[in-house]
Amino acid sequence: ADEPLVLGIETSCDETGVGIVRGHTLLADAVASSVDDHARYGGVVPEIASRAHLEAMVPTIERALKEAGVTASDLDAVAVTAGPGLAGALLVGVSAAKAYAYALGKPLYGVNHLASHVCVDQLEHGPLPEPTMALLVSGGHSSLLLAPDITADVRPLGTTIDDAAGEAFDKIARVLGLGFPGGPVIDRLAREGYRDAVRFPRGLTGPRDAPYDFSFSGLKTAVARWVEARRNAGEDVPVADVAASFQEAVTDVLTRKAVRACREEGVDHLMIGGGVAANSRLRAMAEERCAAAGITLRVPRPGLCTDNGAMVAALGAEMAARGREPSALGLPADSSLPV
Ligand code: KG4
Ligand code: ZN
Repeated sequence: ADEPLVLGIETSCDETGVGIVRGHTLLADAVASSVDDHARYGGVVPEIASRAHLEAMVPTIERALKEAGVTASDLDAVAVTAGPGLAGALLVGVSAAKAYAYALGKPLYGVNHLASHVCVDQLEHGPLPEPTMALLVSGGHSSLLLAPDITADVRPLGTTIDDAAGEAFDKIARVLGLGFPGGPVIDRLAREGYRDAVRFPRGLTGPRDAPYDFSFSGLKTAVARWVEARRNAGEDVPVADVAASFQEAVTDVLTRKAVRACREEGVDHLMIGGGVAANSRLRAMAEERCAAAGITLRVPRPGLCTDNGAMVAALGAEMAARGREPSALGLPADSSLPV
C-alpha cells in the first residue's frame, strides 16, 4: 500500500496511548490509563502520571504492534504529541518516540494534541472537509477551532477563560459526591433527572461577551451554592435533577457557540472531539441544532474522543501523506504548545 504506516504516541495527560494507522485506516489503538491512581486525589496528579507513562510506555507500544500485526521495521514514521499537556508526562512520550524513530531510521512528527483530537475523525468518517470547524471539549481544554488545513493551519476562534468543560463536570461531580472522573457519572444520572428543573447560568452569552469564548466557573459556583442552600435547609438534594440541569447549561452554551461559529465563518461541517464529546446530551443537542442549521455533524465514537494514540498516528499519517517536513530529533516537549 502507498499509504503511510504510522505509529502514534500520546502521553499528554493520564492515558498512555499508542495507535497505529495506515492512512485513514485504524489498525491498533492500545491505551493504558492511570485514571484509577488519580481518583482518590480528585484530579490528575502530574508526578503519578509521569511515572505511570514510564512503566506503561514500552509494553503499550508492543501491544499496539501486535494488535496491528506489524513489526516496528514496517513503520514509515513515528508521531508523538509534542504539547500542550503536562510537561513531565509529555516528555516520556517524546523521548520514546525519538528513540524509536532514531533506532528505525524513520521520520519523527511532533504533533499538536488539539489538532490530533480533530484529525482522529478521519479514522471514523474519512477525509476531513476543508475547512472544518471543531469544538474540542475535554478535561484540559475547551476550544473552538477553525481548521483550513489540519496539518498546517488551525486557528483558535475562542477558548475557555477559566475551567475546561470536562473540568466543570468533574468539579460538579465532586460537589454532588459522585467521584472522579465526573463526566460519565453525570451523563448517566442526568438521564433520570429533569433538565429544566433548575435554570443555571449560561456563561459569556451576553451581547457584549466574546462570541466564541467559554466560561464555566460561574456555573460551577451557582450549582455549588444551590446545592449548599438545599443542604443547609435540611432538604434532600435532587441529584439527578441537578446533574441534568447543569449538563443542560454546559451543552446549551457549547452547541450554541459552535453553530454560530459555523454560520458566521460559512462552514458547513462541525466536528466535536475531546472526552466531553462522549456526552449523550451534547451529542443529541448538537445533532438537533446542526440539522436545523444545515450543518453536517461529525463526532467520532467515544473511544476515539478521549485521549488515545490513534489520533496522534492519524495526524502523523496526514502529515506524511502531504509531505510535511518531519521534526528534528531535538524536538522539545512543550507544555503550552499553541495550535
Ligand atoms: O479528552 P479526555 O479523555 O482527557 C483530557 O482531558 O484531555 O477528557 C476527559 C474529560 C473528563 O473531564 C471527563 O469527566 C470528561 O472528559 N468526560 C465526560 C464524559 N466522558 C468523559 N464529560 C461529560 N460526559 C461524558 N459522558
Ligand atoms: Zn485531550
